[in-house]
Amino acid sequence: MSILVGKHILLGVTGGIAAYKSCELTRQLVLAGSSVRVVMTRAATSFVAPLSFQALSGNPVSLELLDSEEELAMGHIQLARWADLILIAPATADFMAKLRVGIADELLSAICLAALVPIVLAPAMNQAMWSNPATQDNAACLSGRGIGLLGPAEGGQACGETGLGRMMEPADICRAVQKYLGKKSLSGCSVLISAGPTREAIDPVRYLTNRSSGKMGYHLAQAAIDAGAKVTLVSGPVSLLPPVEANLVRVESAAEMFDAVVGLATHHDIYIGTAAVADYAPIVAANEKIKKNAESMDIRLTRTRDILATVANLPSKPYTVGFAAETDQVESYALAKLKNKRLDMIAANRVGQPQGGFDSEENALWVGWNGGEKKLTMASKHVIAIQLIELISENYRAKHST
Ligand code: PMT
Repeated sequence: MSILVGKHILLGVTGGIAAYKSCELTRQLVLAGSSVRVVMTRAATSFVAPLSFQALSGNPVSLELLDSEEELAMGHIQLARWADLILIAPATADFMAKLRVGIADELLSAICLAALVPIVLAPAMNQAMWSNPATQDNAACLSGRGIGLLGPAEGGQACGETGLGRMMEPADICRAVQKYLGKKSLSGCSVLISAGPTREAIDPVRYLTNRSSGKMGYHLAQAAIDAGAKVTLVSGPVSLLPPVEANLVRVESAAEMFDAVVGLATHHDIYIGTAAVADYAPIVAANEKIKKNAESMDIRLTRTRDILATVANLPSKPYTVGFAAETDQVESYALAKLKNKRLDMIAANRVGQPQGGFDSEENALWVGWNGGEKKLTMASKHVIAIQLIELISENYRAKHST
């Protein structure tokens, strides 16, 4: 069940073009079970009509600070007390500046000043406005006071420019809000996750790879972030958008992934090896494109270094979780990997079937550790990732409490 069920979210909408996305955000928050009250600044009403938010939230929209009727219905103090969380999306540069200084000349900023609950901002503005030292200074100051900042994201902007400044997508904001409200099982933990395939060059245009899409690893990264962890995601080449809050390290080959993961491992509390790392790579990659003159050709391969086993045997190793992709005898092969590589936990999936495993939207896992096991039945990779992160955090906490 979503943590949003029954929660009171006060959604503040300030005056930017991204306000149109806040309609979808309202819908998603309501669908997730929360009760939403929208407060708009006057400028916001130039972009979206209050009636749209009223229809989507099922609640009246509040606009004016000094409206005697509204103050009688639900004034700024009552609105501030009603909320479990205040979410400002979009948050303009102007609103951030006001919040920093504590100006309360209209309803939304007055509510923020009176708030005793978490405040989270999803900034949205032109990229130059975002990178302006004044805004950066305001963002750092607000963040230092414990106000959450979601994004902004990078990409094309309504003004035609490109850069950091887009409002995060409603689904990402919704997930992040759950993180702020939820029980954070990995609070204070840092998690390193490898994801996706590797590419082993044969020549400048050809390579050996596998069917990994990166979905399992990327969902795990998001689930770990939602559980309160700081996440570093070392990713092979995939076509997925990484979680906005992850520290992304892109690699291509097994050797590059080895260097990145082993270099970072001792700076993290937990390592999860979801990547489908090539077990073999060509001994030499040709410098020029190989011509198709011969009828057949041999490529000599050599074993790649085992990242997982190396991490699990470091002197100050993180809590190490391996994956096992097996077509048969899933549990017994996985148990052998758990023991031989000296892992803390193994998550095994059956591959080569129509459902689950590589490049599928769903997965099922058999998870084993010293003294325990659990089956996670076929579900979306999103759900499997949340379940696996909970198992990891329980076992990690149990190991570190002894
Ligand atoms: O990316 P998706 O399309 O969502 O698919 C998800 C997945 C099927 C790739 C994932 O769930 C999974 O099973 N990942 C591990 C794939 C794999 O390479 O399994 P393996 O049994 O060959 O390797 C065992 C473990 O050793 C893995 O944790 C792997 O990351 C690690 N390994 C392997 C070789 C190597 N040189 N270094 C390693 O660290």
